[in-house]
Amino acid sequence: MKLAILSRAPKSYSTQRLRTAALDRGHQVKVLNTLRFGIDLSEDEPDLQFRGKPLSDYDAILPRIGNSITYFGTAVVRQFEQMDVYTPNTANGIANSRDKLRAIQILSRHNIGMPATTFVRDRADVIPAIERVGGAPVVIKLLEGTQGIGVILAPDNKVAEAIIETMQSTKQNVLIQAFVKESKGRDIRALVVGDRVVAAMRRVAQGDEFRSNVHRGGSVEPVELDPEYEQTAVRSAQIMGLRVAGVDMLEGKDGPMVMEVNSSPGLEGIETATKLDVAGAIIDYIDNQVAFPDIDVRQRLTVSTGYGVAELVVHESADLVGTTLGESGLGDRDITVLTLHRGHTVIPNPRRGRELEAGDRLLCFGKLEEMRSMIPERRKRRARVKKLPKVPIHDERPDDELDAPTS
Ligand SMILES: Nc1ncnc2c1ncn2[C@@H]1O[C@H](COP(=O)(O)OP(=O)(O)O)[C@@H](O)[C@H]1O
Ligand SMILES: [Mg+2]
Repeated sequence: MKLAILSRAPKSYSTQRLRTAALDRGHQVKVLNTLRFGIDLSEDEPDLQFRGKPLSDYDAILPRIGNSITYFGTAVVRQFEQMDVYTPNTANGIANSRDKLRAIQILSRHNIGMPATTFVRDRADVIPAIERVGGAPVVIKLLEGTQGIGVILAPDNKVAEAIIETMQSTKQNVLIQAFVKESKGRDIRALVVGDRVVAAMRRVAQGDEFRSNVHRGGSVEPVELDPEYEQTAVRSAQIMGLRVAGVDMLEGKDGPMVMEVNSSPGLEGIETATKLDVAGAIIDYIDNQVAFPDIDVRQRLTVSTGYGVAELVVHESADLVGTTLGESGLGDRDITVLTLHRGHTVIPNPRRGRELEAGDRLLCFGKLEEMRSMIPERRKRRARVKKLPKVPIHDERPDDELDAPTS
């Protein structure tokens, strides 16, 4: 294959190892400075320039986008995606994982263990937020920090409040997280490639430091992961849309707690600790996947008006419970079931004979109008746009404090 590594650090260990691994396997490989691309939308087809000239054809890219160039870097990756060039990490995946809050928001609905986390803006909400995650000591984090910079342990509420106020006064957003004491300055870095963990290490913080980052003096050792940790790492990477990722987990008393998912994991620490050819595993994976560029399903399937993707939930009371997919009538209504989610398992391309159970979630493609009618409690006619009311704005009442939960 012909591979482009997008990197601004051609001399770094990771880039050199990836380049070498590709060459050793007989691939063509170029390291291209991400910032020298030009996104070209002037012709009929999406195109890219490099150093002011049209870019030659590549089969795949491996983006190594640094934190300081996320916006431009993801724009370049997105352009490659539009050109059907394979990338193990999509622009969305990179953007989602880059922001620690966004990452755990996305992971939070998928039953992945995480330290209790909150995000507030108003000063008055800080103390209640700290209490909600279990009270001080708490960890305060910049949303886009790396290498342990911007991760602070606040011993009590007063200090926590002061730190948060200081950060916010310089327009920095921070999240508040429960301090996982039992992890004792140690964490696990799992290197996920495709659907498996290819290498894992434990990082141990130096002295009484609680951050185990190698850049903070942490030491590393290889580690054999329990299946629970492996599955958590792989699922986290996949949910984020990353096929190459470094997943950081704390060893909580009830199992793995994901802190973050890195889209450009460094290779030096993990290869040195494990003596494994992680770069080679990444290149081999890309080589195997080149023919299957990631497709933004929603984007592609909503091109015909009226058609789209929707999730239908089989409610306890629904007639569908106990019928097979074949008998369900979905097919007659021009609805194709792509996947069936049942509890924690996913059944891709479910067969006609598959019996439906209450709580099943069907990811479907079809006429939106037909699918809407399958969701009884939300059934609605297409709402007509009403006339502007006579009194368009009511008397002012502060919304604050009126938000008591309604039952
Ligand atoms: N909630 C927490 N409880 C205990 N230790 C934590 C917690 N969050 C982070 N740490 C420690 O701090 C380190 C850095 O945090 P992390 O969220 O991974 O930020 P960074 O992106 O800077 O690496 C982690 O590797 C871990 O050792
Ligand atoms: Mg980290």
